[in-house]
Amino acid sequence: MNPERRETREFGTGASFTIRTYGCQMNVHDSEKIANLLQHAGMRAAETPEDADLLVINTCSIRDKAEHQLYSDLGRLRLWKDDRPGRVLGVGGCVAQQVGDGLLKRFGHLDFVFGTHNLRLVPAMAAAARAGERLAHTEESRSLERFDLPDRHPAYRDAEQRPLGAAGVPGGSTPGRAFLTVMEGCDMFCSFCIVPQTRGREISRPADAIVAEARALAEHGVVELTLLGQTVNAYGRHDLRRQRGDAPGTVAFSELLRRLDAIPGIERLRYMSPHPLFFDAGLVRAHAELESLCPHVHLPLQSGSDRILERMRRRYTRAQYLDIARALRATRPDLVITTDLIVGFPGESAADFADTLAVMREVGFVDAYSFKYSPRPGTAAAALSPPVPAEEAQSRLVELQSLQRGLTIAYHRSRVGRGTRILVEGESRRGTEQLRGRDPYHRVVNVSRGPDGAPPPGALLGVEIVEATPHSLIGI
Ligand code: SAH
Ligand code: SF4
Ligand code: F3S
Repeated sequence: MNPERRETREFGTGASFTIRTYGCQMNVHDSEKIANLLQHAGMRAAETPEDADLLVINTCSIRDKAEHQLYSDLGRLRLWKDDRPGRVLGVGGCVAQQVGDGLLKRFGHLDFVFGTHNLRLVPAMAAAARAGERLAHTEESRSLERFDLPDRHPAYRDAEQRPLGAAGVPGGSTPGRAFLTVMEGCDMFCSFCIVPQTRGREISRPADAIVAEARALAEHGVVELTLLGQTVNAYGRHDLRRQRGDAPGTVAFSELLRRLDAIPGIERLRYMSPHPLFFDAGLVRAHAELESLCPHVHLPLQSGSDRILERMRRRYTRAQYLDIARALRATRPDLVITTDLIVGFPGESAADFADTLAVMREVGFVDAYSFKYSPRPGTAAAALSPPVPAEEAQSRLVELQSLQRGLTIAYHRSRVGRGTRILVEGESRRGTEQLRGRDPYHRVVNVSRGPDGAPPPGALLGVEIVEATPHSLIGI
């Protein structure tokens, strides 16, 4: 059957859904898109999975552990499914894209599987599943159609109404903040990475469509936009290179930032994740010139050793990476750089690892996501040897993380006594007496509520930093 044509109302109206999300910001935002589609189909977000008629798991396969999480979740959800007749269970995301209907074969209680290019089919697939069908759609699409999504549903859209991390609603965006996809897919094929297989080929949205979406968000109270893409600053590169007459309306990434910066109400612009290869002079300059562009760049390094970078097929050297960091600091001395690092890549020697630590010190990363290499079937690195013994990889990870802790706390201390502005996200994890927000450098700042009542989530608040902790700053 063609699920697009199927009537979705039956299951839609009044039924409730919940979405469990693993993986990166792109996945979190995809869950938001799915939630929005379901709300447009008449469904509502459930308070808890126990209340839900439909449960969707949006999966990640970046490392072995992420993939196995799905299998253990699915095992446990057999009970959830049996608990109430008519319940529907769906799986999407990067594992779904890879395994496809193999998941249906393996898990008899799973109803539907959808790939990363098929979000729009979810309401119809859920309705078909409710009517007793079991189906999988993981076709790869190379068209822009997948970006053709309905506007934010009112239940979701208005800053003051949007539930803050409410059950069933993905908590990626908090009031005042939103994700915005500018490109998807990856053509880089780093040797360790599964993403080119799970997200397909690079595709960039027309600049006009992105600007229109940003304007609509700003009109509904969004002040901070995070532009998303697997290699976000590769935005439009294929179109620009081809210089085709029928170019689909993309512009240079720095020009896109310029257009978004000009939108009234947009106070902060961020982007995730850029690749060092596409960090051109225009983008560096944008950091000096655009007022809303935050002084924080998350720039994945992966390794500080040229030999390992080459084996990883990262297409930059340690020196080129350091040049970008220097150029950024030259335009904005206060700019914060954070990164992703992998330890234990096949063939990584003690000297290669020492190179990574040296670059960490030289750049002075303010934060780092660090991982032990996890072989992914079907990637080029899966065939590389020699493997780094598990205990050695673990001890390198511990050493790296200890260095990073020191760098983070040193940076936090350097902020004490200075002023900043935070975007209020809500209550602090430390308790209801404190508010939590993020400053332009993407640092978490906790602030006492004060006697005059708390500013609402989404508000910008001037604070002074009075204390540094390993994970956050404390302000008044
Ligand atoms: N597009 C981004 C990275 C996205 S994946 C970039 O090019 O930098 C997020 C992070 O997961 C990567 O930066 C990398 O550090 C980590 N990662 C990806 N594949 C991995 C693997 N096989 N094992 C361990 N970590 C991995
Ligand atoms: Fe993976 Fe490399 Fe693409 Fe990043 S650039 S998503 S690490 S293949
Ligand atoms: Fe994971 Fe897919 Fe993102 S593999 S990191 S959810 S692109």
